[in-house]
Amino acid sequence: MKALVCREFGPIDALAVLDVPDPVPGPGQVLVRVSAAGVNFPDALIVQGKYQYRPPLPFVPGVEAAGTVTAVGEGVQHVRPGDPVVAVCGLGAFAESVVAAADSVLPLPPGLDVEHAAALPLTYGTVYHALLDRAHLRQGETLLVLGAGGGIGIAAVELGKLMGATVIAAASSQEKLQAAADRGADHLVNYAEEDLRARLREITRGGGVDVVCDPVGGPHAEAALRSTGWNGRYLVVGFAAGTIPQIALNIPLLKGSAVVGVFWGEFRRREPQRAREELERLIEWAWEDRLRPLITARHALIDGREALYALLERRATGKQILRP
Ligand SMILES: NC(=O)c1ccc[n+]([C@@H]2O[C@H](COP(=O)([O-])OP(=O)(O)OC[C@H]3O[C@@H](n4cnc5c(N)ncnc54)[C@H](OP(=O)(O)O)[C@@H]3O)[C@@H](O)[C@H]2O)c1
Repeated sequence: MKALVCREFGPIDALAVLDVPDPVPGPGQVLVRVSAAGVNFPDALIVQGKYQYRPPLPFVPGVEAAGTVTAVGEGVQHVRPGDPVVAVCGLGAFAESVVAAADSVLPLPPGLDVEHAAALPLTYGTVYHALLDRAHLRQGETLLVLGAGGGIGIAAVELGKLMGATVIAAASSQEKLQAAADRGADHLVNYAEEDLRARLREITRGGGVDVVCDPVGGPHAEAALRSTGWNGRYLVVGFAAGTIPQIALNIPLLKGSAVVGVFWGEFRRREPQRAREELERLIEWAWEDRLRPLITARHALIDGREALYALLERRATGKQILRP
């Protein structure tokens, strides 16, 4: 089969589409023919050797895929060949087929768009865990989303609205803000042009925001934390800007707010049942059309490189999909 293969850590250009042996499912594994694979920021970090772990070389990147089961290993009961599924495979999705552990493969309801399914696990899964389990977001609260036009950002706007929050989307361009507005954001702030803190004071009438979802970690992190209200929660989701903010601890003290870490991969490892239930709920909401992942680009395998560059160069809006 064909796969986009990483043979050395470093330049994205070194990724190549190669013929590799067809994967074979072992006991407790499922083989999936990939119809659509979601492209995520961590994919770009992994192939550069900049992620939390470095897989042994060579490897095929891609953490999530939707497609059809073609074979199951011994002991697998909940899916059969021919079933439409979404798989959280960790690696290997940028290929014509991928093997995943059975407990990371979820059946899809008939008729659910494969691209929407492929776009759900990492971004929506992370954000749902963040808002529900980490921030305990309540109906009527105010949610500020930084990088609101990105993969995590759009998911946070949509889920924030679905969970009953007033959503303030903050991003660096009109195009990204428009995407957030199309997904229901109530207020828009262009932090490349406007003073984030002043605008948040104005929007919240001085009360501050209840929850911040921050997948960016850049120069606006401190202003966002300073803009939390009493009992605010600041969700540390990622550092797409490339720097890890160093923030004085007197700010959460003075605000009576909490800085809360979010790590979806570890959550899945430690609480697999709960993580699975949350993903099942997301699939159901997508099927009911209450969630509509924003797909802005579809690429062949070889153009996976362009998709990763778009993320690293801050050009991507919403989610990009590979169609092997
Ligand atoms: N904690 C977890 O469990 C978890 C799970 C999944 C992903 N993540 C992390 O979350 C972060 C965002 O992922 P994503 O898929 O949403 O990425 P994305 O689609 O590229 O969005 C990231 C956003 O960050 C902003 N940004 C600011 N400076 C940037 C720069 N120098 N380069 C790129 N983007 C920049 C951009 O928005 P503006 O241009 O509007 O500023 C961009 O839209 C990544 O760090 C990823 O590793 C964490």
